[in-house]
Amino acid sequence: MISVLNVRKYFKDVRAVDGVTLEFPKGTYTALLGPNGAGKTTLVEMIEGIQKPDSGEIRILGRGWARDERYLRRVLGIALQETNFIDKITVGETLDLFASFFGRGRDAAPRILDLIRLTEKRRSYVMNLSHGMRQRLSLGLALINDPELLILDEPTTGLDPNARREVWDILRDLRPRGTSLLLTTHYMEEAEALCDDIVIMDKGKVLARGTIGELAARYAAEAALVRRTRESRETSLDDIFVALTGRHLDE
Ligand SMILES: Nc1ncnc2c1ncn2[C@@H]1O[C@H](COP(=O)(O)OP(=O)(O)O)[C@@H](O)[C@H]1O
Ligand SMILES: [Mg+2]
Repeated sequence: MISVLNVRKYFKDVRAVDGVTLEFPKGTYTALLGPNGAGKTTLVEMIEGIQKPDSGEIRILGRGWARDERYLRRVLGIALQETNFIDKITVGETLDLFASFFGRGRDAAPRILDLIRLTEKRRSYVMNLSHGMRQRLSLGLALINDPELLILDEPTTGLDPNARREVWDILRDLRPRGTSLLLTTHYMEEAEALCDDIVIMDKGKVLARGTIGELAARYAAEAALVRRTRESRETSLDDIFVALTGRHLDE
């Protein structure tokens, strides 16, 4: 689905993405897990064609941004880390507007509203939505073109546990459609709850990758050392992160 080959992006002396190579197979739910500043947004924005790598190559379904932007915009659904909506139109109008960008008709919005559980809010002004509802709306906008690949940057950051779970439920509903998902998060619970493929990133580099089971098995010994003082006996993704970096994910 996506192939990232030795991709680099520096901002002056900050190595935001420092030589990343990754393949993402079709139909997979992958989490890019790492603390603030790990380089997650820079990496996904390069995949989304919003930022350009300094070097390296990115292919999506075998195509590149330089030649196939129109095609790629059609198959991709993206939600940025922060979405600015038009506050003075309604939820339904916002969806109609985005549907029109993709040449979709008025039948798209009701379907999306149902999926993101906002049907009752379709006549509400966007400025009156809660944070959780806004996040669901931005997810809905990403889904309006029935994307093959959905890329979400921190979809639940700052949400309370209930609002977070609602977003997770929506993403789980998409699985049977065969949609591929790439999401960034610094919540290990989110990576565990949704994704079978976990990429641990820090300081612009990929430190480890695998299923939660594979990672736990591979780092069991190191993680046990850092977890000594805690109650749990199971290896968590945070334990693994501490074993790899000496820091916690939320530090
Ligand atoms: N436009 C930019 N100019 C300068 N530094 C940037 C820019 N974008 C990101 N960075 C820096 O690159 C690093 C990675 O940032 P980012 O990709 O946003 O990480 P994450 O999304 O994992 O929090 C950080 O140190 C950040 O400050
Ligand atoms: Mg970010």
